[in-house]
Amino acid sequence: MDFDLANLPANFIENPYPHYAKLRTHSPVYNLPNGGIFLLEHQDVLRVYKDWTVFSSDKKIEFKPKFGDSLLYEHHTTSLVFNDAPLHTRVRRAIAGALSPRNTAGINSFVETLIDSLISDVERLHLNGKIIDAVDDFAKKIPITVICNLLAIPVDERGALQDWSIAILSALEPEISPQQFDLGERAVKDFKNYLNALVTRRRSNDVSSADDIMARLIRETSESAKEANLLQNELLHNCIFILNAGHETTTNLICSGIWLLSQRPDIIVKLNNEPKLWSAAIEEVLRLESPNQLGNRRSTSEFKMGQRVWPAGTSITLGIGAANRDPKVFDQPNQILLNRHNNPHLAFADGVHVCAGKAIARNQSLIALSKLFKRWPRLQIASGMQRSQRVRFRGFDKLPLDLLGTS
Ligand code: HEM
Repeated sequence: MDFDLANLPANFIENPYPHYAKLRTHSPVYNLPNGGIFLLEHQDVLRVYKDWTVFSSDKKIEFKPKFGDSLLYEHHTTSLVFNDAPLHTRVRRAIAGALSPRNTAGINSFVETLIDSLISDVERLHLNGKIIDAVDDFAKKIPITVICNLLAIPVDERGALQDWSIAILSALEPEISPQQFDLGERAVKDFKNYLNALVTRRRSNDVSSADDIMARLIRETSESAKEANLLQNELLHNCIFILNAGHETTTNLICSGIWLLSQRPDIIVKLNNEPKLWSAAIEEVLRLESPNQLGNRRSTSEFKMGQRVWPAGTSITLGIGAANRDPKVFDQPNQILLNRHNNPHLAFADGVHVCAGKAIARNQSLIALSKLFKRWPRLQIASGMQRSQRVRFRGFDKLPLDLLGTS
């Protein structure tokens, strides 16, 4: 079979799943033209996530030729997600603690209020004749507000954050243009300067008793912290990472949920009648339309997979979207089943790097989708939908809604 992630077949972005299915059948450990491998089976992707001693997340070798001596290089190689132990273990301990369900439990009622107010805004815009875009008028506003609140970023200083974030993440696409590189580079510089000033301001006040994530992480940098110390530069880059990791992925999850569920009015009726089924629905959206479609690792020693031995240094692309529809693990893999007893999807990865914000993401998406479909149970997608063209992050640039389902 002829397949290249750097040169995608027509209609791949629209619907990658038939391509994944074909590859999985013919060549589940697919040898890419660049010499790396693309894994499409759940068992192989899971094995790679679990065995961090062989499958490294450290991206210095890979990013050096792509980013050179740039701020993009500094940023992406200081983020916990692109590191192994010991840096990963130390930074993860600090971040996972700050993001833990216990330390973020207070957000539930805030998220409810935020979404109620966004729904009122949507209603007003709709009554004024505006075509509602699920991305700009609804989903995008949720995670950025939640994560900025968690990090105590002042409301009037949030304007540029979303653009910086998109520019930094876009630089991770397999192929980037010089313009994308420049945008990403400028975004890291501006974001870092902004956070540096914010941290200085926070330090000049007392952060010893504040319970927001920023204060908790600043405390990790203090000399009195016994373990899990963060260096100042690690603090800044990892705050950028948390802000980035949290919002585009969650925006895409909410929009994919709207897109997927609006095609199943029968399921909406069921969910509106039995709201406790919403958590199962969110897991199915995560599985079927994983916001992160691809992950990456590099082997540090030789390993056997797919009847072949691969050398140390093999670049591995993890097909999250493909693994999540693997028929060996998921019965009726392309269907939404609210009664799956076991849903071991890999949308949040697994192993030591498993998403540290998964509880926050699940919570926001559940509240957003349940309230939206409760208010507009017949909601349909209107014409003009545009998918985001990036292969790594699955979602939408535009998702116009017909709230009343009249078309
Ligand atoms: C639907 C939304 C989300 C999805 C699909 C998602 C997915 C992922 C995935 C796949 C990874 C593992 C990457 C790898 O090792 O290759 C990851 C890591 C991470 N995510 Fe999320 N994420 C989401 C939301 C969030 C949110 C809301 C936050 C923070 C508030 C967050 C924070 C993190 C952090 C800190 C890591 C790094 C963990 C580590 O390396 O130890 N994520 N996420």
